[in-house]
Amino acid sequence: MKVERKQSVVLVPFLLQGHLTPMLQLGSILYSQGFSVIVAHTQHNAPNYSNHPEFVFHSMDDGLKGMDMSFPGLKSIYRMNESCKAPLRNYLVRMMEEEEEGDQLACIIYDNIMFFVDDVATQLRLPSIVLRTYSAAYLDSMLTILQQPEKYFPFKDSQLLDPLPELHPLRFKDIPINVVNNTVHAPILDFSRSMSDIGSSVATIWNTMQDLENSLLLSLQEHYKVPFFTLGPFHKMAPMASSTSILEEDNSCIEWLDRQAPNSVLYVSLGSLMRIDDKELIETAWGLVNSDQPFLWVIRPGSVYGFQCAEALPDGFEEMVAERGRIVKWAPQKQVLAHPAVAGFFTHCGWNSTLESILEEVPLICRPFLADQPVNARYLSQIYKVGFELEVMERTVIEKTIRKLMLSEEGKDVKKRVVDMKQNIVAAMQIDGTSHKNLNDLVDFISALPS
Ligand code: UDX
Repeated sequence: MKVERKQSVVLVPFLLQGHLTPMLQLGSILYSQGFSVIVAHTQHNAPNYSNHPEFVFHSMDDGLKGMDMSFPGLKSIYRMNESCKAPLRNYLVRMMEEEEEGDQLACIIYDNIMFFVDDVATQLRLPSIVLRTYSAAYLDSMLTILQQPEKYFPFKDSQLLDPLPELHPLRFKDIPINVVNNTVHAPILDFSRSMSDIGSSVATIWNTMQDLENSLLLSLQEHYKVPFFTLGPFHKMAPMASSTSILEEDNSCIEWLDRQAPNSVLYVSLGSLMRIDDKELIETAWGLVNSDQPFLWVIRPGSVYGFQCAEALPDGFEEMVAERGRIVKWAPQKQVLAHPAVAGFFTHCGWNSTLESILEEVPLICRPFLADQPVNARYLSQIYKVGFELEVMERTVIEKTIRKLMLSEEGKDVKKRVVDMKQNIVAAMQIDGTSHKNLNDLVDFISALPS
């Protein structure tokens, strides 16, 4: 049966895996509500079209050819924002010219790092909506710092463990803005301001839950003064579970998990972007071995400085752990976390990984690096108490933390709390739950936008 589609929405994701995934999930959510979905994406890290036959894709010349994109810096982000302007504008103009009655373009929804979209939307008089792919706690802490940076910078080494003024439970070491030599440089402040600004956008959509972050959202709402639609967790709200991976998933680890005892395996992954040095790789390897727990470890190509992949592991490591450990380059993470054999997640606390873990009732070991990760780690360990922080990357500490999570009474308490936390989030997704209601409100809101 052919479904009569409502208006179209154009989605503009940012090119990193952790940003592309929630945007595509939002696309599936909106498609299921009857919208036509067009994804205007960069050439770099283009999504796999065949996983999303329901979307129309449009590739934009991103100007990134020849640039080192192993860790996109400000230069590439600004260049991309500049380069994509004309391709998006031209595409939208063509679309609007060809528009038929009842098939109007309702709005553009863009990742907040694609801030060029605001200019294009304003020029074309199209409504735009910003997508926040992270927690309210992260944006709130960033805004607080941006309002009075002199209150926080520069700081002394001796202050690293001191509480950050007005930002409980964060400490100076958790500052979610790129810090160099205990201070922040003007270009980073400018970038953070661009990312937090919503320009002329008429609303923001969040991959978080109102019940979880209510007071932070209320305070942010006062600042932004446009409607907020919290629809999280996207990966459970999205009816289609198509893979959004840019790298190829190694599904053989699921058969390996099938052979492990229930609730016995530690899953280790630091997401799509973070990198460690060989010393940390080796300390992690020994921590895993000495903990005596089965583990599934993702070592992404390029994730160890100076090495292609896992060559820096101690000699004979894989033979030593044999059937007790499994290393893959990229895992089908959501399936892994949902597997009954998995008991814990050693993570960098990216927001997608955080939500995926909680929704499968998997408690966490938090090893954050930058941006929102330290904020997530502090909330997970200090406020929600569903994980333990790992602050010293030394083999004995790693071993102890793994054992604490997997074997101790404290570990059991953390597991109980993550089960409760999941229940509360699931409630938000029910018919009378906040995410469900907010989705209905968003559909009405978009449908009523002037076109
Ligand atoms: C980035 C930032 O680092 C993160 O802090 C921010 O919240 C989003 O953007 P990333 O580091 O990749 O993302 O972390 P995360 O948000 O956890 O996203 C990683 C995604 O890759 C998850 O959806 C996870 O399921 C997926 N993944 C990861 C796999 O599918 N397989 C893997 O082996 C590892």
